[in-house]
Amino acid sequence: MDDAAKLKEFDDRIARGEIFEPKDWMPERLRKQLIRMMSQHAHSEVVGMLPEGNWITRAPSLRRKMILLAKVQDEGGHGLYIYSGVESLGVRREDLIDELHAGKAKYSSIFNYPSLLWSDMGAIGWLVDGAAIVNQTTLAKCSFGPYARAMIRICKEENFHKKQGYEILSTMMAGTPAQRAMAQDSINRWWWPSLMMFGPTDKDSPNSIDLMRWGIKRKSNDDLRQRFIDMTVPQAHAIGLTIPDPALKFNKETGHWEIGPINWEEFFNVINGNGPCNKERIAARKHAHDEGKWVREAAVAYAQKHSSLERRAA
Ligand code: 3HC
Repeated sequence: MDDAAKLKEFDDRIARGEIFEPKDWMPERLRKQLIRMMSQHAHSEVVGMLPEGNWITRAPSLRRKMILLAKVQDEGGHGLYIYSGVESLGVRREDLIDELHAGKAKYSSIFNYPSLLWSDMGAIGWLVDGAAIVNQTTLAKCSFGPYARAMIRICKEENFHKKQGYEILSTMMAGTPAQRAMAQDSINRWWWPSLMMFGPTDKDSPNSIDLMRWGIKRKSNDDLRQRFIDMTVPQAHAIGLTIPDPALKFNKETGHWEIGPINWEEFFNVINGNGPCNKERIAARKHAHDEGKWVREAAVAYAQKHSSLERRAA
């Protein structure tokens, strides 16, 4: 069967709603798209540990510290999970991480903003993980088996992440005027960058063409962003937070919340390396990678020793 026939057969599989696996034939362009998208997702999970990691030693109580520690550990696990999914496509994790450190791979724009206040932990959990849930629950229905399966487990943990963030903010909004002002300050800084997490508008989303055609993206960037906005605005109002958008209004006919313009110049600036924390984040990742070299070497040595012992015993 020539490639044209194989492509027709693959398109028919996707049209029938089938799930494909790493060893199945797939268009080379799709394999490259999956490596790009999934590696960036994995990078985002690992870099995403940094803003919250900054507050583990500063948490206001042992309970908050334990919750935040669990959440940050979860994010690291999500990264390892998704890196494993990318490796099923025949690429080496080490090479993906080298690309990140060399500035050749992206990670989510949101993690290039500083976490300045404790209430930022609430904003990140509620808004950033809330946005991730909207995005990842659709990815859990995507056509690539390993990615969809990874998302099912990850989304369960993201729900805990979102709830603990919303609890931080609702507690502070029921607190003193200073605590309420702190929570509002966090929303003012994290609201718009959270909307940018869903990517550029559909007309400026070149990768969406392939990803929608082959069932990786089940909804467009704008559709998911709107779903997030419609879910989140009432949650903000329920605890007395103000969304920092004077143009925000509810459209009774469509049933959607309409927002003011997103600053796409800021977005493209951040994803091109010029955000508030880009350099700091990559430096921190490189340092952690260097510091962890001995752990990786020890784990490999242990695995090699034990596999040779098992071979001898067999
Ligand atoms: N941050 C950084 N880069 C972004 C971006 C963002 N928020 N949104 C888009 N981009 C980049 C794309 O990577 C692409 O650049 P590239 O071609 O050089 O890779 C360019 O902007 C154009 O965007 P497209 O819309 O064409 O790109 P995609 O079709 O890939 O859509 C996406 C972008 C919606 C982020 C999609 O890649 C996606 O759904 N990825 C999987 C989910 C993911 O990565 N989430 C990141 C957050 S993880 C997280 O939140 C952790 C949680 O535990 C808190």
